[in-house]
Amino acid sequence: MNAVFENIFLRRSVRDYKPNDVPDDIIRELIKAGTYAPYAPYPTRDQPRRFVVIKNREMIDRLSERAKKLWLDMSTSSDPEIKRPENVMKALKMPEFNIFYNAPVLILMFAMPHAYTSHEYDCAAAAENMLIAARSLGIGSCWIGLGMPLGSDQNTLTELDVPEGYRLMVPLIFGYPVKDVETPPPRDEDVIFKWMP
Ligand SMILES: Cc1cc2nc3c(=O)[nH]c(=O)nc-3n(C[C@H](O)[C@H](O)[C@H](O)COP(=O)(O)O)c2cc1C
Repeated sequence: MNAVFENIFLRRSVRDYKPNDVPDDIIRELIKAGTYAPYAPYPTRDQPRRFVVIKNREMIDRLSERAKKLWLDMSTSSDPEIKRPENVMKALKMPEFNIFYNAPVLILMFAMPHAYTSHEYDCAAAAENMLIAARSLGIGSCWIGLGMPLGSDQNTLTELDVPEGYRLMVPLIFGYPVKDVETPPPRDEDVIFKWMP
């Protein structure tokens, strides 16, 4: 199998990390891989993604606690949109649960303020590039949707020096996996609605 397909087919979300540092030059390469993903052509032609890199253990732990609290506060809302599954709510209440799984690197990807409807696609495409690039270097990763409430938390945005108007789109963690990740479960094969030769 060629290396690109191998990395796509064997990538798994990693939730158990060694404490070992991921070198800064590798993190920069991962971000560069993200910026090479396609993006919608905005009127200004600016490239729409910006990143915050956090390697500080104490800060990552603190952000995990903050996100958990924000979820739990939101869960009292009557809006069904923000109801979480029971098992997630249970985990969020556990003091030992770290939403970032003690990974040594947290990268928050933001969309620029003028990025209109396609900002989610732009950032998702960049994220996948980063996850696959990481796998190719033996680095584990996981997309952490549970980190999203941090993007609406002004204290967090101020602490991270995020300029006004930038929106958090994708929280990602990276690090060296404790053990080899399992082979992914087979995906649905029957995914094509129609094929018109
Ligand atoms: C938008 C999005 C949000 C996710 N949020 C979380 C999360 O908060 N915590 C987590 O452990 N995994 C999270 N994941 C990872 C998924 O659980 C995982 O990709 C999925 O179960 C498929 O498994 P695989 O990545 O090993 O192939 C998220 C994935 C996506 C795409």
